[in-house]
Amino acid sequence: MKLRRVVFDLLVYDSMDELDQGDQILMHEAVKARKNAYSPYSKFNVGAAVLLDNDEIVIGNNQENASYPSGLCAERVAIFYASAKFPGIGIKAIAISATSKNFVVNKPAAPCGNCRQSISEYEIKQLRPISIIMSGETGEILKCNSVSDILPLAFNSTFLG
Ligand code: THU
Repeated sequence: MKLRRVVFDLLVYDSMDELDQGDQILMHEAVKARKNAYSPYSKFNVGAAVLLDNDEIVIGNNQENASYPSGLCAERVAIFYASAKFPGIGIKAIAISATSKNFVVNKPAAPCGNCRQSISEYEIKQLRPISIIMSGETGEILKCNSVSDILPLAFNSTFLG
């Protein structure tokens, strides 16, 4: 038996002011986007903002449905919209922010597993990492430099033969 330890760098910021200016702008767009989430069931509003190589920012927010599984997370709304509107343009980063109508979100919203998998698809396609910046309403802000950091052993097209 061999042990293979997987480690990654997680950057931890005490507040928005500590972020690079570009990351601050992107997070600001995610915060704005969460206000327009359609979340009548969970009351949990998520906003996402994707920064592209052409410097466009594409936003998304969660869209829920009375048939719960038909809804979609903010990250996938944003990243699919980015790919639809600017096909083939590389993705630099995605910022994510969450709030709730029921409580104060006091820790960063990390993307769900399905969203990690979806972001990973584009990261692998472009052969360049996509950084992920995460916030709640209060508390610290987290950043990782690649989705592969938070989705180790990702499934990808090489498994399909
Ligand atoms: N949600 C997101 O938009 N992104 C995530 O990464 C996790 C969860 C949404 C889906 C649903 O509308 C609500 O938050 C509660 O799960």
